[in-house]
Amino acid sequence: MTRLVTHDLAVRPTRDELAAQDFTSSLRGHVLNHMAATMKARFETEIAPRLPEPPADGRAVHAAIRPDPYFRFYSALRVGAQEMVWASVNAAVDRDAPRLAETARALAATGGGQLTLDPTLQVPRNVAAIDVHHMPGSYAAEAGADDLTAGATYENGLSVFSFGLMGRNLDDIGESSAFWLRHRHPEFAPAAILDLGCSVGHQTLPWKRAYPDAHVTGIDVAAPCLRYAHGRAQSLGVDADFVQANATALPWPDASFDLVYSSMFLHELPLKDIKAVFAEIRRVLKPGGLMLHYELPPNNQLSAYDGFYLDWDCWYNNEPYYKGYRDQDPATLCAEAGFAPDGYFQTVVPSLAWYGEAAVAAALQGPAQIGGNTGRLADGVQWFVYGSWA
Ligand SMILES: C[S@@+](CC[C@H](N)C(=O)[O-])C[C@H]1O[C@@H](n2cnc3c(N)ncnc32)[C@H](O)[C@@H]1O
Repeated sequence: MTRLVTHDLAVRPTRDELAAQDFTSSLRGHVLNHMAATMKARFETEIAPRLPEPPADGRAVHAAIRPDPYFRFYSALRVGAQEMVWASVNAAVDRDAPRLAETARALAATGGGQLTLDPTLQVPRNVAAIDVHHMPGSYAAEAGADDLTAGATYENGLSVFSFGLMGRNLDDIGESSAFWLRHRHPEFAPAAILDLGCSVGHQTLPWKRAYPDAHVTGIDVAAPCLRYAHGRAQSLGVDADFVQANATALPWPDASFDLVYSSMFLHELPLKDIKAVFAEIRRVLKPGGLMLHYELPPNNQLSAYDGFYLDWDCWYNNEPYYKGYRDQDPATLCAEAGFAPDGYFQTVVPSLAWYGEAAVAAALQGPAQIGGNTGRLADGVQWFVYGSWA
């Protein structure tokens, strides 16, 4: 699966490493498709009927299912597969680190987008103090001024992790989001676009492809991811700027952007930072601008079981802020940041990579409903997108 990384910063795994990656991807596909379906059926037919009352929420489902041997087997395999994701790419990344740094330096000299790092920036504890989703060193660990191995680990790991569901360039969320926006609001022509928590820029570059005249900027706190993002973008021939900054304190004046986007970002923040980020987005958006997030669907719009299922990552995958975010109501977060309540919208965008353009365009004509595969990395995934107009 790592063969999805095909640009100039691609690492060169051995055949044994590729076999380990393919095995890990297949194992994850099996756990997240087949075993997840069996576990749900088992809960509905064997565990729930014996409960004194229907579980009120995901926490109650978790308490009821925790002693079940099948749940334990599922969880053990899923945790093991998560650790195998990183183990299957680490050696190749470490071996290729000097070549990657040299290639990134050469790519940076080719012009195009700018990379702006801030060596004084304090990496926040939600990134620095934990190995987020068990990724060794998390996003920001670095061994020197030109180190980009955390970015390489993240991209190659994501390729294994997502077992083919994230599109050709691992950019399906950005591609699907931009496709939705262009179809739903063809009159909207953003000139300045900001992607928050962009990591290696997977979901940043689709915005430049969708709006070629726009100035596109991705920000992140993690310098090694941004170095990699910049080299990756240059290699793929897409001009985007990458800036090291904390999204809770954006280094731009008021009313600087037409579109502020994020993907898979908010659920990795403590609640106080989520609120600070929303306030900052409101501040830097121009009047008539758009805030758009791809995120996991909120607990208050899911069944108790589906809420439990998504919160699994909080309990077992080193994602301590996951549930705190998912327990929020997105419309309330927007309103609290000063967005007018009637500017709020949410929708479900089928994955472009899975369904294809014609099917997605047709689906966007109908009502958008959260279903069992919304925000869930499994076959037929659909993305939950929401936001507000300024
Ligand atoms: C799961 S990754 C998101 C990747 C990317 N948006 C995507 O969808 O492919 C979360 C990113 O948020 C970054 N991050 C966490 N806290 C941040 C903050 N306060 N400001 C900016 N970036 C932050 C992390 O360094 C990490 O790269």
